[in-house]
Amino acid sequence: MNIIVTGGAGFIGSNFIFHMLNKHPDYRIVCLDKLTYAGNLSTLAPVMDHPCFRFVKADICDREAVYKLFEEEHPDMVVNFAAESHVDRSIENPEVFLRTNILGTQVMMDACRKYGIKRYHQVSTDEVYGDLPLDRPDLMFTEETPIHTSSPYSAAKASADLMVQAYHRTFGLPVTISRCSNNYGPYHFPEKLIPLMIANALNDKPLPVYGTGENVRDWLYVEDHCKAIDLILHKGRVGEVYNIGGHNEMKNIDIVKIICKALNKPESLITYVTDRKGHDMRYAIDPTKIHTELGWLPETKFVDGIQKTIQWYLDNKEWWEEIINGEYQNYYKKMYGNR
Ligand code: NAD
Ligand code: DAU
Repeated sequence: MNIIVTGGAGFIGSNFIFHMLNKHPDYRIVCLDKLTYAGNLSTLAPVMDHPCFRFVKADICDREAVYKLFEEEHPDMVVNFAAESHVDRSIENPEVFLRTNILGTQVMMDACRKYGIKRYHQVSTDEVYGDLPLDRPDLMFTEETPIHTSSPYSAAKASADLMVQAYHRTFGLPVTISRCSNNYGPYHFPEKLIPLMIANALNDKPLPVYGTGENVRDWLYVEDHCKAIDLILHKGRVGEVYNIGGHNEMKNIDIVKIICKALNKPESLITYVTDRKGHDMRYAIDPTKIHTELGWLPETKFVDGIQKTIQWYLDNKEWWEEIINGEYQNYYKKMYGNR
């Protein structure tokens, strides 16, 4: 089996590559990544010399480069992680989100049509369903929940999902889509809530909580997401959408307090800042379909996953310090300077 993994130098894609090389030693994994600010070659250092791994620096919107790669590799499957992934950046500059997340998806699927493929898998997000009210804990996102997006990021991801479904219906492309809740774990870029709070706390810097901190996210350890995608590739039904989540809803403020406690830092570091525009209130995944059809269940409990994650950031300071000492400083000033 030869699999092209796009966006494999980012957070979830890299964890997926490690998982696949470990679990399927006879598979070849080809990572195609543009290495944007979010992509990091040092993340892939542990597998760079692996005989079953190849890295190719390219943009998923670059049709010529993508077709050339298909001609060289004749992939059996494509797993498309490549995307602009940060909601706050999509509010500042939507255009690149439309380009990569929608047009890039189209180019990857055109290549699959032209050269043939056993499976095209689109890594989507629970954000395509919009948000849920805090006072209706009985409500959760199922695969039948209507698409109802809030941010340019989620609108672009939802547009891509619609294109994937259109390519299945119109051209018979053998697709699957997964929509996962918030991931956490190693190699998470420090612009996102959990790694940002860990990095700031370790540097005794303010912990910027948006609004009241009451917003709820449904957290899943990244390895459990990777295992779910692996299952969908091998056992999922073509044309289907699978929600992925582990019933682990938590308020942002509680997560930040857990991080303070684990690092022995005072809660006085917590600073409430201006809310995100259009801020989604609550996400909650109903994972019944992937559980009953494919037997998937999350394996890592949040208490253990967050401990492992914090330990990883303590043990791998050079990885995130290099990031936050670079261009990230300008980003941080712009987003948090006058907030
Ligand atoms: P990330 O931002 O950490 O990584 C994105 C990767 O894509 C980077 O390596 C970047 O260089 C690459 N990339 C960006 N634009 C590209 C382009 N035009 N061509 C080629 N490569 C490009 O993102 P992540 O958090 O790992 O998310 C991966 C995927 O999973 C995304 O599609 C995201 O929508 C989805 N997702 C993320 C989460 C989450 O909690 N992080 C949850 C559900 C779904
Ligand atoms: O639900 C899946 C989605 O999860 C993915 O599709 C996205 O790619 C991923 O970035 C993530 O989106 P969120 O917006 O939920 O994640 P983020 O880490 O940016 O924020 C989590 C919550 O924390 C959110 O309610 C905003 C809040 N927050 C975030 C940051 C960065 C803060 O309060 N302060 C912060 O500094």
